[in-house]
Amino acid sequence: MSDAAPSSTPPETVTTPTEPATATTTPAPAVPVPAAAPFTDEATTTPAPAVPVPAAAPFTDEATTTPAPAVPVPAAAPFTDESLVESIKQRTSWRKYEGAPLTPAERATIQSFLDDDRLMTGPFGLRVRVVLVDKDHEGKLGTYGVISGCSTFLVGKLAERGNPTDGSDFGCVFERLVLRCTQMGLGTVWLGGTFNGPEFSRAAQCAPGERVVIVSPVGHKTTKRGMMDGMMRTFAGSAKRLAWDKIFFRPAGAALAPLATPAEAGPLAVPLELARLAPSAVNRQPWRMVVHATAPATVSFWGVPDKHGFSRNDVGIAMCHFETAMAAAHLAGAWVATPPEGAVPPEKDAFHVATWRV
Ligand SMILES: Cc1cc2nc3c(=O)[nH]c(=O)nc-3n(C[C@H](O)[C@H](O)[C@H](O)COP(=O)(O)O)c2cc1C
Repeated sequence: MSDAAPSSTPPETVTTPTEPATATTTPAPAVPVPAAAPFTDEATTTPAPAVPVPAAAPFTDEATTTPAPAVPVPAAAPFTDESLVESIKQRTSWRKYEGAPLTPAERATIQSFLDDDRLMTGPFGLRVRVVLVDKDHEGKLGTYGVISGCSTFLVGKLAERGNPTDGSDFGCVFERLVLRCTQMGLGTVWLGGTFNGPEFSRAAQCAPGERVVIVSPVGHKTTKRGMMDGMMRTFAGSAKRLAWDKIFFRPAGAALAPLATPAEAGPLAVPLELARLAPSAVNRQPWRMVVHATAPATVSFWGVPDKHGFSRNDVGIAMCHFETAMAAAHLAGAWVATPPEGAVPPEKDAFHVATWRV
């Protein structure tokens, strides 16, 4: 199985760092886990969102009013852009679960996502491969004690030698899954480091040239966070996000100026705020956005290098939030690979990932 056509370009996937190591401006974090991504919190400096995000359409569950089907089929709950905006606001990482398996209907719903080519294809055309794997049937699936009470995982795979855009395609698509699971009331947490790679690769039946890049438990959350969850959240500073003026910019003559307040973003205030809330590895928030125009919107998304190699993936997550919010607000546009003319965000080695434009 291959996720992307082999390319002559160097591999640049979510777990294959291609950004120069020298570009990382934060000190190397301590390594608390055996796998790739340590989780510390140098990036978070400001309290979480102050910008009011209008309430989205309430999540409705029409499954409760329609007749029960003979075989488990996807629940009838509509996954609308509005309801997914609500999921963006509600989602947080969850690491402790009740132990009860997914119901057949829940499994069928999730499987329907994984089989949906449109949902599973990223902005740059990669058909992302994610499989549901069970601990019971597949043997040991270690998470170094980070996850408890959950035996089912979403396991995301990428070709080892793919295209530079694979990382952002993967991040965008996997977050679409996370938001849908959130709407179903299920817990998730992106895991890029704290999982046993060989065990998950075997269970997910990786083909030659393919590797597991991200896994997430998916299941019924406990009502209270576990101690390990609390520790990981404190470690990563998970409740905080960078301030607007650190990540959003606007052209000012030949240079860029910070876009410091939602008022300056006009109709893009909510989509940008929801992009700001995206999860990222170690909560580093390696995204910067330049608002070239607000109506119609032209917004370029940039990554800043991260020695863990998750920058493109994380920008993809922010893109997922942004595109969902734009759709919910009926604001037009699509992703293109070419940046507009103009200045680059004032961050060492910032690289263009995608631009949203009409
Ligand atoms: C690409 C990626 C990799 C991550 N890897 C791990 C991991 O290996 N272990 C873990 O406990 N959390 C991991 N996280 C979760 C982040 O720490 C978390 O998303 C971040 O601190 C923000 O918290 P929130 O998701 O609750 O908003 C990862 C997140 C992302 C996006």
